Amino acid sequence: MKASMTGRNGIPKMRNHAWTIVAVGAFCSACTAMVALALAISPPSRAAGTAASGAPSSGSSTNSNHEPAGLKDAKASDCFACHAIDHKVVGPAYDEVAKRYAGQGDAAVDKLAKKVIEGGSGDWGSVAMTPHADLGEARARTIVEWILSLKPSGVSSAAAKPAAAGPSGKTYTYKTPDGTGVKLDFAVFLPGQQEKVSDEVFTGYEQFNAYCNRCHGDDAVGGAYAAPDLRHSLSGGMTYQQFIDTAMAGREAKGMPSWAGFFTPEQIRDIYEYVKARSVGLVPAGRPPSGQD
Ligand code: HEC
Ligand code: HEC
Repeated sequence: MKASMTGRNGIPKMRNHAWTIVAVGAFCSACTAMVALALAISPPSRAAGTAASGAPSSGSSTNSNHEPAGLKDAKASDCFACHAIDHKVVGPAYDEVAKRYAGQGDAAVDKLAKKVIEGGSGDWGSVAMTPHADLGEARARTIVEWILSLKPSGVSSAAAKPAAAGPSGKTYTYKTPDGTGVKLDFAVFLPGQQEKVSDEVFTGYEQFNAYCNRCHGDDAVGGAYAAPDLRHSLSGGMTYQQFIDTAMAGREAKGMPSWAGFFTPEQIRDIYEYVKARSVGLVPAGRPPSGQD
């Protein structure tokens, strides 16, 4: 079920559709990006990349030479697409999970390993964890035991560290072509070069037009299969948190795939920044000028 929906399978699917090749072919850069990504993506290396940002040293005696088996297995799976050790991403911070189940022994391991395999929502919020049937019970337990071994960081996770790949905390003010002022929590353009977009926005443009355009339309103008115009989702009030929740968890029943294990939180952030910049009218359709020009 997940296998047919994940982004991993997005590549062969896209190759199977002649119209997609035509659409992608029209975007030389998107085309290059797709080839580059197709070469770069093998789930383990991708997951390890995710973990680099999601698995800081907090609370465990981890060092890179001697990683606990549970951390290794978590990196090899898609856990760090939605979790980090010391801050919320889509799912709760792992040190918060350890804190909640402290002292509950094997009963907690049983419950949590089952939850990881089956997925589900309701214990931390309304967003559902995707199921991990392929993981197997033994590995699920090893990962959960590692999570439960984490020492709470003392300070609350939220206060300890702002979400990686989350809002910068700064405010950027721009004027759209029609003269409207807009305030954003990320830089759309390179400093002092108002016409050239940031590396993040440009990367977001490339990723969007390689992977999301198939349903959400080229340049995020809205598309096929009842996939909404994401510019309107954001101008209608959808937050970054809601955007990454939907992108990582997907809405399988409605045809929106889960991108966990395919994109890192940082990459989803890039895509969000591109679509947000489009939604407020700062970036027109087409390949935006960037530092790479
Ligand atoms: C698509 C995003 C996503 C992925 C991928 C993901 N999780 Fe989660 N996880 C969540 C969300 C959302 C919750 C909170 C669910 C809830 O509220 O009940 C959660 C909750 C948890 C919990 C706490 C469950 C509870 O009932 O208290 C554990 C433990 C956990 N995840 C481990 C993992 C592990 C291990 C992996 C990788 C094998 C993983 N997660 C992959 C999103 C994800
Ligand atoms: C296979 C088609 C497909 C692809 C590819 C796809 N989506 Fe979607 N997406 C959908 C559909 C269909 C919905 C509407 C789901 C619903 O009705 O709730 C949706 C909804 C969304 C929403 C919620 C919008 C809202 O207003 O609630 C977000 C955010 C989103 N997609 C992001 C992305 C991103 C980012 C990508 C690329 C990484 C992507 N999608 C790729 C089909 C797709």
